[in-house]
Amino acid sequence: MKIIQKIFILDDEETITQSLRAILNHENTKADSAFQFEITTSSDSCTALQTLKDKNDFDLLLIDLKMPQIDGLTFLRYLQKSEFKGAIIAMSASGISDLALEAIRLGAVDFITKPFSPEELLFILKKNRRHLNFKDTNPQVQQQPKSNFSEIISQDPKILEIFEVITKISNFNTTVLITGESGTGKELIAKAIHQNSSRKDHKFIAINCGAIPETLLESELFGYKKGSFTDAKSDKKGLFEEANNGTIFLDEIGDLPFLLQVKLLRVLQERVITPIGSSEQIPIDVRIITATLKDLEEEVQKGNFREDLLYRLNVINIKVPALRERRGDINLLLDYFLEKQAIKFKIARPTLEATARQALINYNWQGNIRELENCLEQAMILKTGNIITVKDLSNKILTQQNSQYIPLTQQIIVENSKNLSIKQHTTDIEKALILKALEQTKGNRTQAAKLLEISHRALLYKIKEYGLS
Ligand SMILES: Nc1ncnc2c1ncn2[C@@H]1O[C@H](COP(=O)(O)OP(=O)(O)OP(=O)(O)O)[C@@H](O)[C@H]1O
Ligand SMILES: [Mg+2]
Repeated sequence: MKIIQKIFILDDEETITQSLRAILNHENTKADSAFQFEITTSSDSCTALQTLKDKNDFDLLLIDLKMPQIDGLTFLRYLQKSEFKGAIIAMSASGISDLALEAIRLGAVDFITKPFSPEELLFILKKNRRHLNFKDTNPQVQQQPKSNFSEIISQDPKILEIFEVITKISNFNTTVLITGESGTGKELIAKAIHQNSSRKDHKFIAINCGAIPETLLESELFGYKKGSFTDAKSDKKGLFEEANNGTIFLDEIGDLPFLLQVKLLRVLQERVITPIGSSEQIPIDVRIITATLKDLEEEVQKGNFREDLLYRLNVINIKVPALRERRGDINLLLDYFLEKQAIKFKIARPTLEATARQALINYNWQGNIRELENCLEQAMILKTGNIITVKDLSNKILTQQNSQYIPLTQQIIVENSKNLSIKQHTTDIEKALILKALEQTKGNRTQAAKLLEISHRALLYKIKEYGLS
């Protein structure tokens, strides 16, 4: 399977554009290469800008940052305002420099340090393939059905392993216990197990065992006979029966009352259910998937959960990692939800400003993917125009970003300075922090004051005092 890449190379040194063309052409001749490149080169940033604006179907731009006429950063600023949708990789001679970081802030997905070997270049392209536009050249592969995990957005090896487990167990009727923090996607994974199994044409029924009172939960799960209690005006099928031949997902299984734990154990052992008020045993064929936030081993120790039931439920255990343990997914999820919510709100997909994106990438996401989804939804509503900026993000994100406080090494200041004036040093540090806050907030003083944790008035005073305006 090859990925077609329309690539545009921009460097004022023609020797570089020529050698890059040669590397990529050589890659095209290899049968086992992951890519098929269609290459365009330019050594003139003015005409290149026009080409990229006119012909907007490039998947990737490789751009030198040091160029005469329009330099790399200015070029990226122009591109930000254009319709260009491809991925950008910057080439810089100075490694992780301010220049390269600024390029990332201006939308580049990565950078590569010159001079580089063909292997390094191909490594960078492969590393960033998730940003590239996948177009399969192999028609057979194209005709294959879409991945059944299409709703689960992830590139993380831990989640990809979960996909493998799901594929392996799909046609065995084993019980599955899914554990993980709130909002990590446990229910989504339960659905994927169902969708990937031969049961997919039957029902997937989810019920939260923690949200319903015990007696109601019992009648919901097992059903009842007419007259078995005052309100039982007619027979009612339970969810186990409804889900027959399909899948039942028992969420928050750790909250299942003890009496119902006994009943569930019986279902697992004998594969029959008995509705309330009935003596009839109804055979059922249901896959049981459960999920919990609790540590069930601990609940067993405390006497809250039956050990024999735990063993029956925990035949396959899927541990879903928290979002902060797969931070690489945050960027992907941001794009996914921007797209999803734009469709939901029937608007064009908004642009997420680079500083806002960075703040979201840095955030700790205790509430995991659900929190990220809600946060973007809120920003979609608050934004002005079709751009989400830092000020559209909730305060907790900005506050946390600000609290990632790395203390200055006092030694550097004290050892390297003959001037020990506290006033002088604090003034310098204050100035630097104010400039940084203004840069991060694109000059928005209210927002900058929040980041600096001083009042708006105090900030205005200091800007004047230090002559920063
Ligand atoms: N990898 C993912 N890709 C896209 N969307 C996701 C992903 N994981 C979770 N979501 C979305 O995040 C939200 C929360 O997911 P889900 O309900 O499956 O989590 P959960 O672990 O069951 O949470 P809780 O413990 O709070 O019930 C849902 O809207 C779901 O669609
Ligand atoms: Mg859930």
